[in-house]
Amino acid sequence: MTHSRIIGLGYYVPNNIVTNNDLTEWMETSDEWIQERTGIKERRYFEFGKDTNYSMATAASRQALERAGLTPDDVDVIVYATITPDYFFPGSAFLMQRELGMAGKPVIDIRQQCSGFVYALSIADQFIKSGMYKTALVVGSEIQSSWIDKSTAGRNTAVIFGDGAGAAVLQATSDPEHCILSTHLHADGNFAEDLYVRDPGSSRAGRAVTKEMVEEGGFNVIMNGNAVFKHAIVRFGEVINEALSANGYSPEDINLLVPHQANIRISDYVRQQMGLAENQVINNIQRFGNTTAASIPIALAEAWEMGKLKDGDLLCLAAFGSGFTWASALIRW
Ligand code: COA
Repeated sequence: MTHSRIIGLGYYVPNNIVTNNDLTEWMETSDEWIQERTGIKERRYFEFGKDTNYSMATAASRQALERAGLTPDDVDVIVYATITPDYFFPGSAFLMQRELGMAGKPVIDIRQQCSGFVYALSIADQFIKSGMYKTALVVGSEIQSSWIDKSTAGRNTAVIFGDGAGAAVLQATSDPEHCILSTHLHADGNFAEDLYVRDPGSSRAGRAVTKEMVEEGGFNVIMNGNAVFKHAIVRFGEVINEALSANGYSPEDINLLVPHQANIRISDYVRQQMGLAENQVINNIQRFGNTTAASIPIALAEAWEMGKLKDGDLLCLAAFGSGFTWASALIRW
């Protein structure tokens, strides 16, 4: 039977560090409030003229490919998750494919918000398991800093988000001891407007983009923070347990949990719920904030760099985000 294995990880974050104190220049907030409620100390914002969504994804992908000992020619398919693409269409996967010199190879752009990377991983995993492709490049990349409202009116979301990209190379293997064991995907559109950006979209009468929209704030991120928090702490636990029981494991079998970096309080709650020690959960939200689809692959790549991914370890990825969406992947490293 064919499985897929992660054989290379990479990430890129912009050089531009924006601290909590830097944010006080634009909005009424404080380092203390942000750290206490979210755990975030600083995040990265892209530098115009240097970073774009696809350029960051390309840098992360090149690093992942190099670490896998492969070149872009070896890749059969790109699955690219982002909610902040370079263009409205076509998606950023096309731009990255062009940059990597892979014309003719299929690319798939998906959204799925903060669960985007786990969804993308699952899609690539199914392609490989079915035998359709042997090698896949899975990417999450976001430029959130140009979408958020940095005035006091937008402070409940603006302080959370940051920019960055992460990538993983998946390859077919027949080794059941070193592979993705299973992935689990969920969504509930009943909560679509609890975390969303309305415009530009076709929900409007007349033109999809108007001058009035800017004044109405249609381009801003709207978030019901309490609803997101309440659902996240339940869904994270559920989807982790689903992955464990699908494979005959329980929480004490987990070596490492890499959760989506939504909020340190959510992550701590899930860690305690699962009975895991602090060093069994990767948290880098302090330095990068919430980078949406990029947060899990960045955290995973950092974990690998720190030597925290050991041969045979049971690794769990878990995500929750807008949609609502929630998802997990259980991996034997
Ligand atoms: N700085 C200072 N004060 C702020 C602030 C900021 N950046 N943002 C909000 N506040 C204020 C509010 O105006 C409110 O003031 P009031 O009591 O005078 O009305 C007060 O802080 C409490 O606001 P509230 O929204 O109830 O705070 P909270 O404790 O729920 O924390 C979040 C807000 C966003 C940090 C929290 O809801 C959260 O983390 N939710 C999950 C978000 C998330 O993970 N999103 C990503 C999904 S993947």
